[in-house]
Amino acid sequence: MKNTYILAIESSCDDTSAAVLLNDKVLSNEVANQSVHEQYGGVVPELASRAHLQNIVPVVAQALEKAKVGKEELSAIAFTRGPGLMGSLLVGTSFAKSMAMGLGIPLIEVNHMQAHILAHFIDEGQKKPEFPFLAMTISGGHTQIVKVNSFFDMEILGETLDDAVGEAFDKTAKILGLPYPGGPLIDTYAKEGNPEAFAFAKPNISGLNFSFSGLKTGILYFIQKQTALNANFISENLADICASAQHTIVQILMNKLKKAVKQTGIKQIAIGGGVSANSGIRTALTAMGEQYGWDTFVPKFQYCTDNAAMIGIVGYYKYLNGDFTTQNTTAQPRLSFK
Ligand code: KG4
Ligand code: ZN
Repeated sequence: MKNTYILAIESSCDDTSAAVLLNDKVLSNEVANQSVHEQYGGVVPELASRAHLQNIVPVVAQALEKAKVGKEELSAIAFTRGPGLMGSLLVGTSFAKSMAMGLGIPLIEVNHMQAHILAHFIDEGQKKPEFPFLAMTISGGHTQIVKVNSFFDMEILGETLDDAVGEAFDKTAKILGLPYPGGPLIDTYAKEGNPEAFAFAKPNISGLNFSFSGLKTGILYFIQKQTALNANFISENLADICASAQHTIVQILMNKLKKAVKQTGIKQIAIGGGVSANSGIRTALTAMGEQYGWDTFVPKFQYCTDNAAMIGIVGYYKYLNGDFTTQNTTAQPRLSFK
């Protein structure tokens, strides 16, 4: 079979990323992070789109150079159409459209959430999930449990009604005075702490949906109450607070997964999205797998957080199906599953 070279572009939030894939293998996966948001404690959409504008040309050039692939060798260009921030998506979308037009090659639109799921099919010789499987996508923008019937047939079984799980981590970190994004820091401190030190109330949401806004408020009130009694409460108990908050979040996620397995009878479980980098979640998932006989799949760290390689793998499978889009396509911040 002819070799397929896909250039993939991801710009849905605050990372500008470009990747080159040869069939289902990654030749390069360049990511430019945006530190400009740190001082604001969250992503500022207008600053994100300006940074994407500055980054996109060098990041794409680097990806091609690292892959040792010339523009004229490309088979198609894949890009994130949505969901995400409008201004950020516009940069990647416009760039991909112009480049595909200039080169006279097909253009492929990709749903960011499907890409987090299909990242498991980037081939590095690892074991891959078999259809149908359950995918839990956990990131700064989303929390979903999805039944994946085939590459392009996915059903959302449950999702968050308010905050995403990444926001629960980041907002907890903010309450504790930690810099943005605080999720990885909570993970680091949690390793030294006692997960049973403090008990936080878990939400009671029916079915497979999630809610994290109550947990954030619960942690905020708890911290306010304790610091009124002892001004040094946070610094004296940081590891225990982080471990307890993380433990609560992990339990919420694992309880829903258990429910999803019971409901569907599917025991192939894959996780994806930036929060799947969390060590507490990884450990709990492995333990549940052993206890209940699940096959569990966790992508490599660089394919968990936002990256263009995952856009490229979706691009590759769409290329095989001849599923191309036209120059009339537009960025779609609220893009849903088809
Ligand atoms: O998928 P991602 O890179 O971007 C979105 O699409 O949102 O996910 C970013 C989120 C942030 O909320 C970040 O704090 C969280 O993933 N995150 C973590 C960890 N690493 C990243 N949360 C908890 N523990 C981690 N180790
Ligand atoms: Zn993401």
